[in-house]
Amino acid sequence: MEFDFDVHKIFLEPITKLDCTLNPSRRPLISSGEAQKQIVTVIDEIGKLSAKAQRLPAPITSASRMQSNKHHLYILKDCTPKTAGRGAVIGFLKVGYKKLFVLDHSGSHIEAEPLCILDFYIHESLQRNGFGKELFTFMLRAEQIEPQHLAIDRPSDKFLSFLRKHYNLRSTIPQVNNFVVFEGFFRDRRALL
Ligand code: ACO
Repeated sequence: MEFDFDVHKIFLEPITKLDCTLNPSRRPLISSGEAQKQIVTVIDEIGKLSAKAQRLPAPITSASRMQSNKHHLYILKDCTPKTAGRGAVIGFLKVGYKKLFVLDHSGSHIEAEPLCILDFYIHESLQRNGFGKELFTFMLRAEQIEPQHLAIDRPSDKFLSFLRKHYNLRSTIPQVNNFVVFEGFFRDRRALL
């Protein structure tokens, strides 16, 4: 995903983490007003592409949604010489804590606030090259969480296959909402829930 501005000037790291302030931890190389405008454009555009890829009626990731929620957005940029000019964005991953009722193995409702995977997208032209894994691994380290402790909001088939392949997450604990949780969700948590 290329833009008519230089993404290397707003995102200084290969992966940039944003919260509701939309301020990267490393200060952009352009004025903060201009940087905010460009970051808004990036988030809105990648959010639209993700929605299209998942056939959602409307984007679930946008700058305005980021500003009004306590979500974390991880954006992966292309650091290869091929896009050295203005750079490009490869994809993103959005996570956030949500209050949920999660069914345990016996079918009892447990009130929980797990970290949830809310949106995940790698540009079509770059899928199956390991970029999703790179982004996901970075997020796990940054959030200090094990993959089996996550709840996943309506995972696509591609994402289920990704979780099976990279994290051996196969068996799910059946739920009555749109979230998917895997075996191990209730085991060895630092803080439940
Ligand atoms: N068909 C089936 N499985 C796929 C596909 C595909 N087209 N693309 C990726 N995968 C899975 C497979 O397990 C694949 O391993 P394989 O090639 O050996 O079969 C594995 O992911 C590859 O791993 P990565 O290269 O690290 O993953 P990638 O960079 O492709 O990112 C992602 C995975 C984010 C799911 C990407 O495919 C994508 O953006 N898909 C479209 C959008 C989407 O479905 N997002 C998830 C929505 S649900 C949610 O966000 C909560």
